[in-house]
Amino acid sequence: MALYAMGDLHLSFQTDKSMEVFGRVWKNHVKKTEKYVSRIVKPEDTLVLTGDHSWGRKLEECAEDLAFIERLPGRKILLRGNHDMFWDAKKTEQLNERFRDRLFFLQDNFAAYEDYALVGTKGFTFEGPFYLDPWGNVTGWDEEKEARAEKLVAREMARLRRSFQKAEDAGYRKFVMFLHYPPTNILEESSPFTEIAEEYGVSAVVYSHCHGERRYGDSIRGMHHGIRYMLVSGDYLNFRPEQILPSSI
Ligand SMILES: [Fe+2]
Ligand SMILES: [Fe+2]
Repeated sequence: MALYAMGDLHLSFQTDKSMEVFGRVWKNHVKKTEKYVSRIVKPEDTLVLTGDHSWGRKLEECAEDLAFIERLPGRKILLRGNHDMFWDAKKTEQLNERFRDRLFFLQDNFAAYEDYALVGTKGFTFEGPFYLDPWGNVTGWDEEKEARAEKLVAREMARLRRSFQKAEDAGYRKFVMFLHYPPTNILEESSPFTEIAEEYGVSAVVYSHCHGERRYGDSIRGMHHGIRYMLVSGDYLNFRPEQILPSSI
């Protein structure tokens, strides 16, 4: 039994939005996803999909995308991404009712994996705009957008804290923390998200959202303050799900 993760499938069975304009890695990405997930993930495994599942804006426009995810092997747990307009965070319980025993939507709740609690939320990262000097050094940024980002981070932190709290109340002491956005922006070495990860001593922080080679290094990867940070964007992994547990290190 193993725990895998991958994010950003950006499916569009009903909306016909091709991802191929974003580079060669996206060519036939749905076929690659199907092939690699089927090869790697076994029916007894768990696969966490870390957001940006579908281009559909309403649940009806996502039906085929979610059906595709349902058909993948293993138990599927979904996290909200910034593109998942079909998923109102306040209506997560209704989604879980509707997809009971088929898909689990991780928001203000947790999922058990062996003696671990899988907790998570979309998160948020301030993405600029940053102002650069001619050498590419950051000399400033849009402060209004930064203030807005701080509010969104606070809201996401409250949601994440509820997820941890519910898991802790249920007796869990081991955690894997999932975010859609990276835990820090390109200027930060720590953030409320890295702080809560350290507070709970999580086994790993798993995130996606970063697309294209220029973005893969935007946040922390590898060991940092004793915690493993893992980027699992589909294009970064060439659509091969990453094993989270058991850990290879
Ligand atoms: Fe994405
Ligand atoms: Fe995203």
